[in-house]
Amino acid sequence: MNGFPDGFLWGTATAAHQVEGANTSCDLWLMEWMPDSLFAEPSGDACDHYHLYPQDIAMLKGLGFNTYRFSIEWARIEPEEGFFSAAALDHYRRMIACCLANDVKPMVTFHHFTAPLWFTKDGGWEDAKSVDRFARYAERAAKALGDLFAYACTINEANIPVMVTLMREAVGIAGSGERERVLAEAARLCGGERGRFAPYLSGDGHKATPHLIAAHRKGYEAIKASGTKAPVGVTLALNDFQPGPGGEALHEMADKIINRQFLEAAKGDDYVGVQTYTRVIFADNRVLPPADGTERTQMGYEFYPEALEATVRQAAKVSGCPVIVTENGIGTEDDARRIEYTRRALEGVRRALKDGVDVRGYIHWSMLDNFEWLEGYRPKFGLVEVDRATQARKPKPSAWWLGEIARRNALT
Ligand code: BGC
Repeated sequence: MNGFPDGFLWGTATAAHQVEGANTSCDLWLMEWMPDSLFAEPSGDACDHYHLYPQDIAMLKGLGFNTYRFSIEWARIEPEEGFFSAAALDHYRRMIACCLANDVKPMVTFHHFTAPLWFTKDGGWEDAKSVDRFARYAERAAKALGDLFAYACTINEANIPVMVTLMREAVGIAGSGERERVLAEAARLCGGERGRFAPYLSGDGHKATPHLIAAHRKGYEAIKASGTKAPVGVTLALNDFQPGPGGEALHEMADKIINRQFLEAAKGDDYVGVQTYTRVIFADNRVLPPADGTERTQMGYEFYPEALEATVRQAAKVSGCPVIVTENGIGTEDDARRIEYTRRALEGVRRALKDGVDVRGYIHWSMLDNFEWLEGYRPKFGLVEVDRATQARKPKPSAWWLGEIARRNALT
């Protein structure tokens, strides 16, 4: 039997900044356009999903999927502190309604890496005020949209700031000198102070973590208070952390601070979102690079689809919540490798299900080839190719293949 449980969610995911285009009130827009930016290129018009969402959602449905995970952009909804744009909320209401009209379940994420510039300039998540600022935004947005949600997610990868910080500190990845220079310059450009300018992915994850956990809790309550019937949760970046010889202590520290701390904080939620791309092996008190000759993805990660089975099991065990795979995928130019990766990842999910792990859905990252943050448009995570000159979409073989699995609710 290769079937999945009745009602299993089969979806694809995007995030506002990566696909919408012209997200000019957010923090990263400034950082993409500054001289000597660390971004390979600016996001620009992205995939113009802000305007093309009706055709994209219809395409997703046509391929066979029943769920669409996307984010609403805080920087559009609250571009200045305390000003909530009714027009931006109306836009997202139309977008969510478009999912429902296509019989696609909307899974709505409130925060996916980007934030309004005013927020990041004034301490971002490092400042305790972030908790109430996020809760106020969540309350306003949920009041306007919550009746239409099928699922809601407060914060995408709430554990990634601390993951990036730990990798930087303990493992010596990423040049901290460059980061310092860029943050100081970005603060200067927006008339802020260096000590206060704290973007999600390059701030101090240790300072941000307690605020992110508290913001998730308050955000969860605020979304529920809208009267929505949608299950609410948080999503986490979960690598399959494996200990090797001499890496036991580092493994334990990373697993505790990056994975378990957040899975424990998710206890009592309606679900937990698992987002997995690869494994990380700790040995000789460092992160072991993949051995020579190991297949790597465009991100430099080891091609290791089996990671998902391990993280799904860990997430269910530690959090006690039902699990939804809210992201899994691969950056590759070779679509046949995407199919192979996804097939093996899904076989892992099937094994976990057979053992009684409560997995409710699989959402592939990503629907479209899109803006991959610092890397720009080079990595190709999409099931669908985008010609950014014409904005034409073209589903890849992997899109038809996964859509067929979704239709049949079975691995074929
Ligand atoms: C993020 C996405 C990103 C993907 C691939 C996840 O960590 O949520 O925004 O594009 O990984 O790198």
